[in-house]
Amino acid sequence: MSLNNKNIIFGVCGGIAAYKSCDVIRGLVKFGANVECILTNGGAKFITPLTLQTLSKNKIYSEMFDIFDNWEINHISLAKKADVILIAPATADIISRLACGRANDLLSCAVLASKAKILICPAMNFNMLNRKVTQNNIETLKSYGYKFVMPEKGELACGDCGDGRLASVETIVSAVERLFL
Ligand SMILES: Cc1cc2nc3c(=O)[nH]c(=O)nc-3n(C[C@H](O)[C@H](O)[C@H](O)COP(=O)(O)O)c2cc1C
Repeated sequence: MSLNNKNIIFGVCGGIAAYKSCDVIRGLVKFGANVECILTNGGAKFITPLTLQTLSKNKIYSEMFDIFDNWEINHISLAKKADVILIAPATADIISRLACGRANDLLSCAVLASKAKILICPAMNFNMLNRKVTQNNIETLKSYGYKFVMPEKGELACGDCGDGRLASVETIVSAVERLFL
């Protein structure tokens, strides 16, 4: 299986599972993908741009209103170059923003502006996940063609046990590969 020449825009959001995004990047890079990260402001509370930059070997994007690179508007250029936009972990908040069509940060804006496949990997407390509003948001996005790798059952960072753990790195990387079959 190969991800050679595939451009993956990788959204990292503000949840404890953000540390696992490092291994997802390594898995994608190992299969030949070019990975460029959009780190939300929430995500940056959990993981540093330096770590993501070192692993992806690419610049990290966070701010919508940064000065342009080479006269390119970041959310549009990232949206255009993406073969896939992968979000892992995806918070309840980004899922809600996407379901509403919000474009109030770089990641939601890039998703809205892109024609790429979108793959969302939620991770959150099981009560947040099982809330009707979150489930409805997920169903709404599925109806728009967004793909999901749903979380697994297990022990959560808050100490509770239930659905909500980010899917394994292997499951996420395989799901990305399957998008190209
Ligand atoms: C310690 C801590 C852990 C959190 N973990 C999660 C989480 O696992 N999943 C989630 O959906 N939100 C979690 N949140 C809440 C999000 O960080 C918050 O909703 C934020 O607005 C998400 O922004 P983003 O989606 O732009 O990254 C957590 C917050 C804190 C303080």
